[in-house]
Amino acid sequence: MPSDLVIVANRLPVDRVTLADGKPGWRRSPGGLVTAIEPVMRTGNGVWIGWPGGNDTDLEPFEDDGMQLVPISLTPEQVQGFYEGFSNGTLWPLYHDVVAKPAFHREWWEYYVEVNRIFAEKAVEHAAEGATVWVHDYQLQLVPQMLRELRPDLRIGFYLHIPFPPQELFQQLPWRRQILEGLLGADLVGFQLSGGAANFVRLVRHRVGHKTHRDTIYLPDGRTVRAKAFPISIDAAGFEKLATSTAAATRSSDIREALGNPRKIFLGIDRLDYTKGIYARLRAFSELIKDGHFDVEDAVFVQVAVPSRERVEQYKVLRDEIERLVGRINGDLGRIGRPAISYLHSSYPREEMAALYRTADIMVVTPYRDGMNLVAKEYVACRYDDTGALVLSEFAGAAEELRQAWLVNPYDINGMKSALLEAYQADEKETQRRMRAMRKQVRQHDVQAWARSFMTELTDGEHEHDKKTRPAHED
Ligand code: G6P
Repeated sequence: MPSDLVIVANRLPVDRVTLADGKPGWRRSPGGLVTAIEPVMRTGNGVWIGWPGGNDTDLEPFEDDGMQLVPISLTPEQVQGFYEGFSNGTLWPLYHDVVAKPAFHREWWEYYVEVNRIFAEKAVEHAAEGATVWVHDYQLQLVPQMLRELRPDLRIGFYLHIPFPPQELFQQLPWRRQILEGLLGADLVGFQLSGGAANFVRLVRHRVGHKTHRDTIYLPDGRTVRAKAFPISIDAAGFEKLATSTAAATRSSDIREALGNPRKIFLGIDRLDYTKGIYARLRAFSELIKDGHFDVEDAVFVQVAVPSRERVEQYKVLRDEIERLVGRINGDLGRIGRPAISYLHSSYPREEMAALYRTADIMVVTPYRDGMNLVAKEYVACRYDDTGALVLSEFAGAAEELRQAWLVNPYDINGMKSALLEAYQADEKETQRRMRAMRKQVRQHDVQAWARSFMTELTDGEHEHDKKTRPAHED
């Protein structure tokens, strides 16, 4: 049955797993996007189109916990060219301030176009007349325009979960114009921050030559596109509930005990990605021990590195670098049963994450560039008693909202050392004052509010659209 709401994202909200009986099955992925979109999906008899990971070729649409899911099959060549190549070897580093060098390969681009078309055609198949289609993230930037050409009756929204770079960097992309035109197929293009939206509008004006006025772009055919910020968030109440559970309390004291009951526990949880600044933060922490500010008896750093994109070369190199550093630090500074860094290369369910957040005295989030960073918000949501310190990079989108964190420049190791030390030494009154303000922000701006505001803007814009007069060109 055709749907009134179609979600199109590179990933499905479930992962392919092997069940206890050895047969393949599905498990809800830990990400927050599902929680956000689920209520919207249920009210609009929605369907979610996405790639389940892997190379399965025979997957049929199915229902999971009341949600209609449509898996996209990709060949190994498509996974390599579209996902590992263009999405994660070209766009990911380019959009993250060129923290790593993006690779430009014409063959990857061809796969990107081909796979975007597969997603667009599948969406069209499932969209009812006049349906709303909400496309997600950098892997699918051509889908809005493809949809518009195939089905002008649709209302099309696009949301970019990662930063949108300034003109000076975006210009490197040989296919810059195609990407901009791809996005312009949408009625509403959402970004994490207003800076990203402004970068996009400016690029459209200069590179494509359309007229713009503030957040509105005027296309020659009379259609308008709006570009606005919608900072994403988390299921704050859900996380708080997990963190206050008896299971989390028990697990938390077990974790502290297993770490040897140190005075303070530092925590980092990140996908193992070069944008996250893991190396620099571990160095800063280890230097504080070396300098004698505290000892391995006093403090331990728990670093959870979630395996990610393991077949992409830059990620393999990064893993080796970090693991070599952890080995060296522990070898130099650790004692028997007392490593300076407790390193885990693994992913954990939400329950375990909540227990870790509950246990950590100081959460350290130091990306070189990050669209938002939900880990920072999850930590805040889990600090139900207003304790705990957050050390946060200025280059994470979350820093625009979590102003009371200890804000750091991850390129400045000495600055990071001072912030880590201050957070370590801060008295309870100071940490509570900061945490209380941050908790209020996260509770009031949760992921449900985010999804609602995007959908309202997308559907209200439909009625607004015809009323508007066309203002003069603004530069
Ligand atoms: C970021 C991206 C998402 C992506 C996720 C995990 O958050 O914005 O689109 O799904 O990383 O990466 P993966 O490559 O495993 O999907």
